[in-house]
Amino acid sequence: MNIVILAAGQGKRMYSHLPKVLHPLAGKALLRHVVDTARSLQPARLVVVYGHGGEAVRQSFAGESLEWALQEPQLGTGHAVAQALPLLDESLPTLVLYGDVPLVQQQTLEHLVHQGARGLGLLTVRLEQPQGYGRIVRDAAGAVTAIVEEKDATPEERQIDEVNTGIMVLPAGVLAGWLASLSNHNAQGEYYLTDVVAKAVAAGLAVRTVHPTGPWEVQGVNNKQQLAELERAYQLRQAGALLEQGVRLADPARLDIRGALVCGRDVSIDVGCIFEGRVVLEEAVEIGPYCVIRNATVQAGARVAAFSHIDGAQVGPDAVVGPYARLRPGSVLAEGAHVGNFVEIKNSQIGSQSKANHLAYVGDADVGARVNIGAGTITCNYDGANKFRTVIEDDAFIGSDTQLVAPVRVGKGATLGAGTTLTKDAPPGGLTVSRARQTSVSNWKRPEKNKV
Ligand code: UD1
Ligand code: CA
Repeated sequence: MNIVILAAGQGKRMYSHLPKVLHPLAGKALLRHVVDTARSLQPARLVVVYGHGGEAVRQSFAGESLEWALQEPQLGTGHAVAQALPLLDESLPTLVLYGDVPLVQQQTLEHLVHQGARGLGLLTVRLEQPQGYGRIVRDAAGAVTAIVEEKDATPEERQIDEVNTGIMVLPAGVLAGWLASLSNHNAQGEYYLTDVVAKAVAAGLAVRTVHPTGPWEVQGVNNKQQLAELERAYQLRQAGALLEQGVRLADPARLDIRGALVCGRDVSIDVGCIFEGRVVLEEAVEIGPYCVIRNATVQAGARVAAFSHIDGAQVGPDAVVGPYARLRPGSVLAEGAHVGNFVEIKNSQIGSQSKANHLAYVGDADVGARVNIGAGTITCNYDGANKFRTVIEDDAFIGSDTQLVAPVRVGKGATLGAGTTLTKDAPPGGLTVSRARQTSVSNWKRPEKNKV
């Protein structure tokens, strides 16, 4: 089939410099949702109709196998599809999607294409409040005879609660002729795509209707209110799917997944967490409240406490992270590692059972097993121009408030005294301290305020 995605509308009611179809839903542009779904149907041709000022839209899909048809000026949905015609294979049926209706499902569209294969297929839905939509007109036998737009409808037709979602599949061969014969003699002075329905009926083609699994599938976005509503509907559905597979969610209404979240058995997620990109939570992982986790794997039995931030990292089995920890890209925590409050880890390996429990920065470091990193420890990995690595071997003990000036190595089992500024390698086993020897002055007097 061909797929045409209509996206030429300006989206004035978004009150934004960003074109409407680039606004994100679940972290992904509206049009990206539609394009991804369209691709899942493996169309022979995929064309986006874009409008004046839509260069940003094209740009954001640069380098992808998509075709673009400019519609300028915008004279209606029929005119929009006509602009795509030269790019279509006329021997194939054409599926029309909307760039601002992001959540329509692959299965629904497959069903629609199947039903409409030998004639015309319409995705329709019954709404309690059908105002604003085109109405599906049927004859006494229940066969569809036309779509009438609200503004052109008689009072009786306005009583019809079955509406046109706009998504339809059009037959091969006849489309170009139909579009060329559309007129704009209607209330809005537009070339209505919906007028092809009456043409199909006149030509004796079967018009079949298919319904979505829920109204959210066909809900369009015209303003920020509708965008927010659709986001919540989408998130609630994702939460529902997790609950169904056995994930414990403290509150399904307070969870945001902007990407893919894969959960093992007995995973538990507290309120207010955000998952972005691809996140894997293995068996029995516990995520505390208000964590932000992006492109990460948390292995079995690990616990991430409140307000932690994990990005591009791997948390090993039974590790403990947070509260208030930050794992930046390239952080790999081995089994049973502990990274506590106000600790930042970047591009570093933390070996099994090693601990950095308070207020530390560990960047570009290879930390062995059973290492203790004291409070206030900092790897000085950057000299203003280049970055260097710090190596801390197994069983080392790093005293509090130590600076490790990289490149530097702490040998196996070494101890660094608190406050050490390490600029040369510390040998294994021994104690290394770099601080002035402590002295006490016994007959010292505190200064006193001058008398006037
Ligand atoms: C259209 C349908 C209506 C349906 C409703 C569902 C027609 C005549 N009417 O009405 O039956 O109930 O959608 O939401 O088709 N667009 C263009 N170029 C244009 C006009 C529109 O690309 O010249 C695009 C818009 O960006 C949008 C879509 O087509 O994505 C629908 O346009 P819109 O103006 O919202 O159509 P409605 O009048 O609401
Ligand atoms: Ca609309």
